[in-house]
Amino acid sequence: MDIGTTLTRFLLEEQRKFPGSTGDFTGLLADIAIAGKMICRGMSKAGLIDILGATGSSNVQGEEVQKLDVVANDTMIRALDHTGHLIGMASEEMEDIFQIPDEFPKGKYVLMYDPLDGSSNIDVNISVGTIFSILRRKSTGNKATLEDFLQPGAEQVCAGYVLYGTSTMMVYTTGTGVHGFTLDPGVGEFLLSHEDIRIPDRGDLYSINEGNARYWHKGTTDYINHLKSGAGGTSFKGRYIGSLVADFHRNLLKGGIFLYPGDTKSPDGKLRLLYEANPLAFLAEQAGGAASTGEKRILDLMPTKLHQRTPLIIGSKDNVAEAERFWAGA
Ligand code: AHG
Ligand code: MN
Ligand code: MN
Repeated sequence: MDIGTTLTRFLLEEQRKFPGSTGDFTGLLADIAIAGKMICRGMSKAGLIDILGATGSSNVQGEEVQKLDVVANDTMIRALDHTGHLIGMASEEMEDIFQIPDEFPKGKYVLMYDPLDGSSNIDVNISVGTIFSILRRKSTGNKATLEDFLQPGAEQVCAGYVLYGTSTMMVYTTGTGVHGFTLDPGVGEFLLSHEDIRIPDRGDLYSINEGNARYWHKGTTDYINHLKSGAGGTSFKGRYIGSLVADFHRNLLKGGIFLYPGDTKSPDGKLRLLYEANPLAFLAEQAGGAASTGEKRILDLMPTKLHQRTPLIIGSKDNVAEAERFWAGA
């Protein structure tokens, strides 16, 4: 496609490949792009208006809520509640399902999202992002139900993120490859910049919070020691931002592995299955990579609750397979 292809044009051309498509889905992704632009604008003004820092309250995960988490969560709702594509939403920052209000038309999809991933990095001007996942609803009534959200990640019809980095990017998949768009601030549009992203089969980056090493299981310790030893002829580089979406994006483009394993302190790790692991696992697989708990494929997990956590090992397929061998041998 030509340089200068807008996200809107790309979505329309993709839609035309599916005769009979209602355009519902194209509209939904366009809404998410608008929400991303609005959050981006809020982020870039964050240093000027007093919205940096914590609200002083905790979210349902018991973590400190940053003001911009709340702003981003509200922005997603405002941009998506009235456009007729959704029946409900669930977010890391909301305890329960958000139902599309009665006055608005209802759609056939549910949206799950992490409004601001990596938000503890905001105060130090480091990249953060919005992660999203879309499922077709299962229920048939006029309200979304829990079963609409508690589906295995393999059922996702779309997933992606908007990364607020040195430039703002939207990266998504609908199950036919992974495409990346960069926001041209002058035009105010996302332009196709990374068509059909493929993650290298093997990379030399590893990303893990080594501050947790004293809690690690043997498989994690042995694997990380193996990487550091240079065995296999690769000199690995440690890279850990502490913003999953930014760590993932870098490894997606350059190749490598990100790990947030379960350990003796947090047996299920830290990251959330529905808002973080599933969408990134869908992207990783669509780019030719892999995502695992160390034992099982992430996309096969059957969620039992909205805010469920899962260990996550994600990235280049050979690296993830190697990590799984260490888990199996531990
Ligand atoms: P969030 O800001 O949405 O709560 O997510 C933070 C997550 C993730 O972005 C990152 O990879 C991880 O927390 C970092 O955790 P540690 O500080 O424990 O390494
Ligand atoms: Mn997050
Ligand atoms: Mn978050």
